[in-house]
Amino acid sequence: MNSSHDGWATRIGLILAVASGAIGLGNFLRFPGQAVQNGGGAFMVPYIISFIVLGIPVCLAEWTMGRMGGKHGHSSPFIFKEYLKGYSLKITGTIGVMIPVMIYVYYVFIESWCLAYVYYFLIGGLDLGRTAAGNLAEQKEIISQSSDFFLNLTGAKENGASFESSILIFFLLCFAFNFYLVYRGLSKGLEAFAKLAMPLMGICSTIVLIRVLTIPGIESGLAVMWNPDWSTLKEPKVWINAAGQIFFSLSTGFGIALVFSSFLKKKDDVVLSSLSSASLNEFAEVVFGGMITIPVAFLFLGATVTSFGTFGMGFIALPAVFSMMPGGNLFGALWYLVLFLAALTSSITMLQPGILFLEEGFGFSKRKSSFILFLFTFSLCLPIVYFNKDFTALDIADFYIGTIMIYILASIQIFVFYFKIGVDRGVNDANQGSLIPFPGSIRFLMKYVTPWFLLFVFISFCYMNLPEYLDKMSPEKMGQIASNKGESVTDAETKAYIARYVVLGLVAVFILLYFTVSRALSKKSEENPV
Ligand code: ALA
Repeated sequence: MNSSHDGWATRIGLILAVASGAIGLGNFLRFPGQAVQNGGGAFMVPYIISFIVLGIPVCLAEWTMGRMGGKHGHSSPFIFKEYLKGYSLKITGTIGVMIPVMIYVYYVFIESWCLAYVYYFLIGGLDLGRTAAGNLAEQKEIISQSSDFFLNLTGAKENGASFESSILIFFLLCFAFNFYLVYRGLSKGLEAFAKLAMPLMGICSTIVLIRVLTIPGIESGLAVMWNPDWSTLKEPKVWINAAGQIFFSLSTGFGIALVFSSFLKKKDDVVLSSLSSASLNEFAEVVFGGMITIPVAFLFLGATVTSFGTFGMGFIALPAVFSMMPGGNLFGALWYLVLFLAALTSSITMLQPGILFLEEGFGFSKRKSSFILFLFTFSLCLPIVYFNKDFTALDIADFYIGTIMIYILASIQIFVFYFKIGVDRGVNDANQGSLIPFPGSIRFLMKYVTPWFLLFVFISFCYMNLPEYLDKMSPEKMGQIASNKGESVTDAETKAYIARYVVLGLVAVFILLYFTVSRALSKKSEENPV
């Protein structure tokens, strides 16, 4: 392994770092929410197909391309120099730097909710009352208290309310944790922390899983996953949601594995490492993400859980359920500790590509790079935290960055692998130093299926979702819809303006980063003329 430039100390450290970056809120929060809203057990069919046809090929391509391009540097603009040039290099390099940093900007806010829930469960602040199963009136009351708690804590009732809530303190703490670990560097920060956090997450989630599986009557909750609603498979939305879940959960298309594997040498394995980290992620997602939240929520709340949405399920339904069960405070605290650690290890990985870019692109020290990235991300986070009424800013940022842009980067990577490197050459390269051969079935998929399936999923996704998100930016349309529903027109218009400013902000960030990336690329070529 490359020991220069603060690379990885050990191979297992790298696998754990990539896996812990992948295992995050997507596994424990997003997956159960998606599964419940998309047919329960039936969701597993498109989900597993997406994992095999999209997830694994993109992961393998990322790792292989990262190692191949690592001779030029360790951040996207330099790694892609191996394959692209001119505008395509600058644009792709910019997207590669922008995605992880911008996902961090909203992800860290959700991370702070998890930390807050750990704290409130520990001090008994979420003791909402006990009730016997089946007592619907009491259950409703507990749910409504849980919902109030969540909306007040996160400032989702009014814009600016988050600045007056304790969430601000948890948010600042999360920011500090992240930058402390990033400042310590890859091996002493992320890698060392992942080696501690991964087993701790495993232990805590196993304890919660055992508790859940020993609740009397849990079989009826588990049955939801075994009594799938197959009719949902006819809906294209379910397939697209499954593909989106695979991307978000594996962090494919984030450009993170690309950067991390750029530290590897030809003699280092990429095939087994990428497959191991993807498998660890899936294990955590299906076993812990799927077997804890879904059965327990169904057991206590019945079919109504499908109406909760992802945040509602994770931060309203589940805390209410913990509150209803004996020992709920302890198990609640353990569960949100798992979520917090998972989120923290993921968010640190999101900052690394930005730090590496500043270090190698401009020759800045780690201290200076960390400080610049801190100021940049902090100033972009504040509006997201402030304009949190109904999670408006968060939702828009997640749609454009956490979904659209990661599809774009994943597609660019797969097409570069296909057209610029060539699947056979790429596979031969991946096989060098690898501990197991590149699977023949994945080679076949990469040659004939993955690029086109990816394109199809991406176009369908945009076709189905973009109009709704474009409407969200139109004050006239949103005002009209609100007035038809008898809701506040001013509120709806304000939300549309916020959505518009978030998109304008993203465009401005892209332009700023584009010029920064171009500057870094030309600075490097002046220093090292070919
Ligand atoms: N892959 C990370 C997650 O699942 C981003 O949360």
